[in-house]
Formats: sequence, structure tokens, C-alpha cells
Amino acid sequence: MTTESKKDKVFIFDTTLRDGEQSPGATLNIQEKLEIARQLSKLGVDIIEAGFPFSSPGDFEAVRLISKELQGPVICGLARAKKEDIDKAAGALEPAKKKRIHTFIATSDIHIEHKLKSTREKVLKTAVEMVRYAKSFTDNVEFSPEDAGRSDPKFLFEILQAVIEAGATTVNIPDTVGYTVPNEFGGLIKAIKENVPNIDKAVISVHCHNDLGLAVANSLSAVINGARQVECTINGIGERAGNCSLEEIVMILKTRPTLGFYTDIDSKQIYRTSRLVSTLTNMIVQPNKAIVGANAFAHESGIHQDGFLKFKKTYEIMNPEDVGLLTSKLPLGPRSGRHALKEKLSELGYQLSEEQLDKAFLRFKEIADKKKQVVDKDLESIVRDEQRIAEITSYYELENLQIACGTGLPTASVCLRRTSDNVFLKDSALGTGPVDAIYKAINKIVNVPNELIEFSVQSVTEGIDALGEVTIRIQQDHLVFNGHAANTDITLACAKAYLNALNKLIDGITTGTKILAQKSELEAKKGV
Ligand code: KIV
Ligand code: ZN
Repeated sequence: MTTESKKDKVFIFDTTLRDGEQSPGATLNIQEKLEIARQLSKLGVDIIEAGFPFSSPGDFEAVRLISKELQGPVICGLARAKKEDIDKAAGALEPAKKKRIHTFIATSDIHIEHKLKSTREKVLKTAVEMVRYAKSFTDNVEFSPEDAGRSDPKFLFEILQAVIEAGATTVNIPDTVGYTVPNEFGGLIKAIKENVPNIDKAVISVHCHNDLGLAVANSLSAVINGARQVECTINGIGERAGNCSLEEIVMILKTRPTLGFYTDIDSKQIYRTSRLVSTLTNMIVQPNKAIVGANAFAHESGIHQDGFLKFKKTYEIMNPEDVGLLTSKLPLGPRSGRHALKEKLSELGYQLSEEQLDKAFLRFKEIADKKKQVVDKDLESIVRDEQRIAEITSYYELENLQIACGTGLPTASVCLRRTSDNVFLKDSALGTGPVDAIYKAINKIVNVPNELIEFSVQSVTEGIDALGEVTIRIQQDHLVFNGHAANTDITLACAKAYLNALNKLIDGITTGTKILAQKSELEAKKGV
């Protein structure tokens, strides 16, 4: 018998692409959702809630594509307890090897009376009917009584018994508004186990929001009291203050084995997943964030450093390597060859084609000349950058950029190559700052109206020579396109990120396949 088999498995249900994407400003396009889903699969999550297909064509398409591509995890689609929602979810999940429909309806009196303008009886009837309806598409049906944390426990027991009878295989207990405290929430799970006669026919899941900073503590308390699925998100992103953070709950269960639980998460993939989600959602991880914050493994005080150097465990309860923070023993440098880069990338989990490797090697050499030591985070940033470029059609490429700025008027001169006819186009512009000047000069050449709605720069590593990762969002007619790029020269990264977004926008126009959901649809989704 292995140690694991003596412990109870906790299923990890990742909702980064659904609840996480409901974070203000965290809009992801379909390609980005696919990229995250692939990484979640590498991370080893059991279930990916890929979206809410009824909420927008973009969500429908994302769930469909993820269902088509990913064979490992169960792919789940959210649906209100309405036939039209369940139909859409079933349609989007159709290609999935393993699928789940997650349907929900509110059960607290405050929601029933003021939001649904209904009654407990009607809510119970709808829940049962819709679970049965969802069962006609798949055996794997999850039911959530929304705002369970503030629902009358007696009504909760009644509705849970009824939906399990109707075929729900997972019953999820959401603390929708993050109101409960650990003893209370754990007690609720215990009470559900004791008062729902057929509870052994379903897995108890929990879905905790972080309004009082208790999402992880409440989820842990629920697990200790009988829950065996935790719904969580990478970096804890989600509606308002977010959801239970995946990396925190997973590392608690791993670091404290005496609690008696395990997950199938490959914890070495945690850091990479966190970085990917942070970059693509443009949501910066606070430095003191547990597990994945920049300071999570940094020892600052002299006493701590002294103790740590004498014996690591004096001040470190987890190995940074266990969450995938490879403190590169052998960073690559300007003299490292293509072979060394290939080895290093494969160590990091990237298998590149020869052509991709050629491109990555060129980028690596450029950076190594400037930085001297290229660490894992730099390499990951380069590879992601190249992958992004490869994924989109390039209508314009940056050939040259010159900037003059300082106390005078910032000026940018830009030369772009139009790929359709290989013509080089040049223009220059003045701006309020260098970035403004670059964007104005590019606009003069490309001439596609759009509005810059978001712009951010994050440094990949510490130090003055760090790679800067630029994320921007542009909007045209309520459609939003993201652009990303990384470079040691931030102005170059700005120009490339803008072109990345413009190329996506042009692609949307020329092929007619709008890759992002309409703003109005997103707003509808935020109304969940
Ligand atoms: O917070 C919540 O109640 C939800 C449900 C849809 C599960 O996100
Ligand atoms: Zn939620």
C-alpha cells in the first residue's frame, strides 16, 4: 500500500477560465484560454471549468475547442438551471472525451426573493428538472445551490437530497459571497454529510469566495469535514476578491501530509501556471502572495538568512523546487550553444520543433548579449513570446524603431514590413511620451482605428537588465484584443505588443472570425 492510498484524494476543480475570468479586467481570448487549459492539464487538475457557454459565442467556442483538444481532465461547462443554458453547455462539450455539466440555482432566501423573485418550492422543482435534463446529455452532472453559505441548512439538505436522487454526481456548496468562517463552513459540510441520506452517492465539492480573506481556510475546513472536491483558481483570481487559490490549497495538503489528503497536482508546474495566468490575464501577483509571490521564498532578515544558510528547514517549510521555482544552478550565458538551450528548455518542459528552436536560439543570443546570465524565467518568457508569434498571422512586423526622448518632445520613427507584399513602410510621430509616440507612428502606417484601453509592464526577473513583459489591450467596436511581448528594451516590447494586438485585430477583420467576446456579452456574463 502506498502512502497516497492511505490518504483521501481531493479532486481539484479549476475554475480559472470561468470564475477566474470573471475578475474585473481579466478578459482572455480563445487562444489564451486554450494556452491556459493546456497548462492546467500539465498541472494535473482533475476538472477544468472551461467557461459558461451560454454567456457568449466566445465562451461557447473556447469550451468547444478545449473539449476537442484536451483528453486528460474532465471538461466542464457552467449552465444556469435553464434548458437553453444546458443545451448550450452540452453543445460546447460535445467533442469532449470526459465532460461534465455544472448547473446552478440560488437557494438562499435573499436570492430567491430579490433576485429570482421565486419561492423555495419552485427553486427545488427547477433544480430537480434541470439536473434530470442535464443527465440526458452526460452522466457527470454537478449541481450548485448558489449562495449555499447563507441558505437555510434545512432547505439545503432537502434540495441536495432531491438533486442527488435526480442524478447529480457532485454537489457543490458555494460560499458565493465569501461570508462564512472556517468553523461554520466546516460545520455545514459535516451537517450535510449527516442530514442528506443519499449523500454517499455524490462527491461533496466546495466553492469559496475570498471576500473576507477566508476562501482557502474555509475550503480546508470543508475538506477536513468531508468535502472531496475543491473549486479553485490559479493565483486565487475570480469574482470580486477572488476564489480559493489552487496553489495554496494544494500546497497545504502536500506540506501537511498528516491531515490525510492528497491531490494529483504536479506541484512543480505551479509556478509556471501562475506566471502564465498572471501574464495573460494581466493580473499582477502581489509580492507577498503565499506560494507564488516574488517574496514567498525570499529571506530578508539577517537572523533568518543565518538560520537558513545553516539549515534550510529553520525557515523554509517547502522547497521552492517543489512549486517549480528552479533556482537555476547553471544559468545560460552568451557562450551557451543551441544544444545547451535545447537541453535547458526540455528540462523546463518545452519540446520545440527545430524551426521553433532556431527562433528561440536567436532570441536567446540577443538577450544573453545584453544580460550575460539568462535564467529560467527569461527562457520561459522567450518561448511564450515565440509561441504567441507563431500562433497568429503576422500582417505587419517590426523592422526598425528609433526613439528620441528626454526633456524635449518624445519622437518615434518606425519601420514596419507588410508581409503580404514585403513592402517596408516608414513613419514617425511625436507623443506625450515614448510609448505614445511609438503607437502614433504605428497607427499612421497601419491605419486601423482602435482605442488603447489597458497597458502594463511587468519585469520578468529582478535587476536593471531584466526582461520587461508588456501587456496591452486595444478595443475596436466593443471587441477587445490583447497583445503581449517581452524584451530587455521596454520600448521595443511596447511596439511588439502593440503589433501583436493589431495583427489579431486585423485577423479578426479579414477572416471574419472575431476571436473575442462582445463587450455586451461579457457584461452579461459578469451578471452571473
Ligand atoms: O460563486 C458561486 O456561487 C458560483 C456558482 C456558479 C458555483 O460561481
Ligand atoms: Zn463563484
